[in-house]
Amino acid sequence: MGESIYEGWCIACHRDSGQGKPPYVPALRNNPVLGESEANNVVMSILAGSPKVLTQAYSPYVRMPGYAETLDNSEIAAVASYLRALGSEC
Ligand code: HEC
Repeated sequence: MGESIYEGWCIACHRDSGQGKPPYVPALRNNPVLGESEANNVVMSILAGSPKVLTQAYSPYVRMPGYAETLDNSEIAAVASYLRALGSEC
């Protein structure tokens, strides 16, 4: 399920194998965030999207939307697990 959610919602920005589009969208593959022992940062990024304060954001030009309203908890968990598996492959 994680892969199909990724393909549906995330691939446009984070690209097909998680390479992102630096300097606009961070790569997810090889991103140390994915290997952290707690999944909180990954889950929070998906729920909240880009920080509201522009200076704290990765890019002032591309904003990641929050998915708290779009995806339910099991979908967020599935896509987070998919990303973490992607991260640990590298
Ligand atoms: C409109 C483009 C866009 C889409 C669609 C998008 N993202 Fe993002 N994503 C970004 C940007 C830009 C950032 C950097 C956020 C910031 O400003 O810190 C980001 C950051 C992240 C991060 C945090 C990376 C880090 O280093 O902290 C994760 C995890 C993530 N995205 C996962 C997802 C997932 C999962 C989806 C689909 C449900 C998704 N993104 C959809 C643009 C996008």
